[in-house]
Amino acid sequence: MIVAGQLLIDGGDGHSILRPGFVRVDDGRIAEVIEGEIPRVADVGGEGFLVSPGFIDAHLHLPQFDMIGAHGMPLLRWLSDITFPSEMKWAEESYARDMTKRACSQLLSKGTTAIAAYATVHHRGARAALDVASSIGMRGVIGQVLMDREAPPELCGTVDRLLDEAKQLGESYPATERMAAAITPRFAISCSEELLDGAGRLAAEQGAMVQTHLAETQNECSVVEQLFDGRRYVDVYDSAGLLGERSILGHGIHLARSDLIRLASRRSVIAHCPTANTFLRSGAMNRSEWIDASVRLAVGSDIGAGYERSMVRVARATIETASAIGDDFPDAAAAWHGITAGNADALGWTDAGRLKVGSPADLLVIEPTIPWLGPMVDPLATLLWAWDDRWLKRTMLRGQFVD
Ligand code: GUN
Ligand code: ZN
Repeated sequence: MIVAGQLLIDGGDGHSILRPGFVRVDDGRIAEVIEGEIPRVADVGGEGFLVSPGFIDAHLHLPQFDMIGAHGMPLLRWLSDITFPSEMKWAEESYARDMTKRACSQLLSKGTTAIAAYATVHHRGARAALDVASSIGMRGVIGQVLMDREAPPELCGTVDRLLDEAKQLGESYPATERMAAAITPRFAISCSEELLDGAGRLAAEQGAMVQTHLAETQNECSVVEQLFDGRRYVDVYDSAGLLGERSILGHGIHLARSDLIRLASRRSVIAHCPTANTFLRSGAMNRSEWIDASVRLAVGSDIGAGYERSMVRVARATIETASAIGDDFPDAAAAWHGITAGNADALGWTDAGRLKVGSPADLLVIEPTIPWLGPMVDPLATLLWAWDDRWLKRTMLRGQFVD
């Protein structure tokens, strides 16, 4: 199959570029990427179309899709009053299964084909989420959330049981799979030191990705200090072995220079979630300072604290947040790169985020209904700022259209 248009290509310096051409898809994979001219005859796309790799969302919560919009609360109250009661519904496996189907369908309709996602503490629910996402053909990781305190008893498990369940999920969905289990201690407040240590050991044993939250609000950081004898948040995770290059730390806003140096030396990744940070009024992550300190960054929607399912709008919010706090903000080409090749590199996924020969064909065929290739404005800036989800005509996963 020939998919033609302006191809969104990794420019190689943290920016995306556009090149006319086509992608040939064969047997579920990208067989050829030819730059030069847009062929007059194509199976899909053509002149005026954009062909993009599927977007990657580096941080989201599948059980929180139905609670988007609970505005006006700070993080810890939002968790106890809205989030935890919502997540309790995943005790029923069929509910978790249906909700994952709905969430994946919403993600695909917005162009997201790869995810790093949280389930809940329920083992069967988390397994159902992995089963559904993998049978749909999504790329990514999903983790059973680990919690043993500071949450309703229904959402807490014992250390032994939780680690055993997480181990089993990792055996069923190993790190080498297109859809894999991730070790997912929720955050230091809801995990005892014993649970964090066990999670760190298990992640090392299984070579699994680690997902957790870090320093999202100042109040959260104070509570962590109280719970862990005055230690710094980053130290708590580091001594549990949770900071490696496959660790994705949500938010990472309230950090000192010494924390950044430690994170950079561990090559851990901060998943910047600008829409969620605005929504919960958690603060604004200082992206340029984090980059100066060589901290690796990804970008995530953080649904349901984040209210935007479209990664294009989340990418736009990285620019809005950065420009609100300083002069040094990414341009549109960097924002497009962030949700494609940039997130793939941060997550260590060599088979996603790029139009690359040999990779599974996870592609988007986009037909903007405004003049976007004119000489007056940079086309990538026009597409980003004027983005309309209705332009997304087809979403392809592993060479199959899913719409
Ligand atoms: N910190 C711990 N759990 C959560 C969560 O579900 N969402 C957000 N935004 N922060 C968290
Ligand atoms: Zn989160």
